[in-house]
Amino acid sequence: MKYKYIDMPKTMKGTFGEGLYGFSWKEFVMTVPSPMFLVTTYKSNGQPNACMQSWATFTSADHGKGFYAILASVNKNGHLYKSLNEKTEAVINFFSAEYHSACMATIQHNQFDADEITESGLSVENAAWVDAPMVKECFMNLECKYVWEKEIVPGDDHVMICLEIVGVHIDEDHLADKTGDNGIMYNIHYPLDPENIGKTAHDYAGVLQKKIDVGEY
Ligand SMILES: Cc1cc2nc3c(=O)[nH]c(=O)nc-3n(C[C@H](O)[C@H](O)[C@H](O)COP(=O)(O)O)c2cc1C
Repeated sequence: MKYKYIDMPKTMKGTFGEGLYGFSWKEFVMTVPSPMFLVTTYKSNGQPNACMQSWATFTSADHGKGFYAILASVNKNGHLYKSLNEKTEAVINFFSAEYHSACMATIQHNQFDADEITESGLSVENAAWVDAPMVKECFMNLECKYVWEKEIVPGDDHVMICLEIVGVHIDEDHLADKTGDNGIMYNIHYPLDPENIGKTAHDYAGVLQKKIDVGEY
């Protein structure tokens, strides 16, 4: 049996689903996990900025000549948006579960004057090909250049940003095995069951598990 929803279920009244924090109720009912990572840039004062992001995807384009990150929802009022517009370069850092809490701490250390990476207990390294900091403890760092931005709906306070991935640093263990316990973490954002709303909802962070060997090319 499938439930059908086109309007917000009445049971969700008073929850995040009512548009609180800018999230649609559909996000919590449909729950599509997306990869989590830290985007690092230099702020205009030279201090490293770190911003947790997860509404994002990755794709090749231009007939296979380039590989791109689409950050689907960057807050225009944050340091990431400002520093990306100023510097046009950034690093996307993927972390394992071990560093999840340190990466989350960057949200508390969000002051303009702060080195958000060091203050969160992580280590700054300079990127090799772009003018941006990267996080040493992260198992994969993608060095990126800004390409374009677009509002999903005109006038929105969040914007979709396309970054071209120019180069990568990958830990040898991750190179050998890209999923499992130490693989890329996914944001499982506040899954709600409108038919059983009494249960407390939580955010979760998960990893991928291989299920089917689809064969060779
Ligand atoms: C799991 C997780 C995912 C997030 N994803 C995004 C995102 O995709 N876009 C966004 O604008 N903020 C996102 N945030 C919120 C920002 O990380 C947070 O507001 C941050 O402090 C903003 O940093 P900034 O001022 O450097 O831009 C996320 C937060 C968490 C905990």
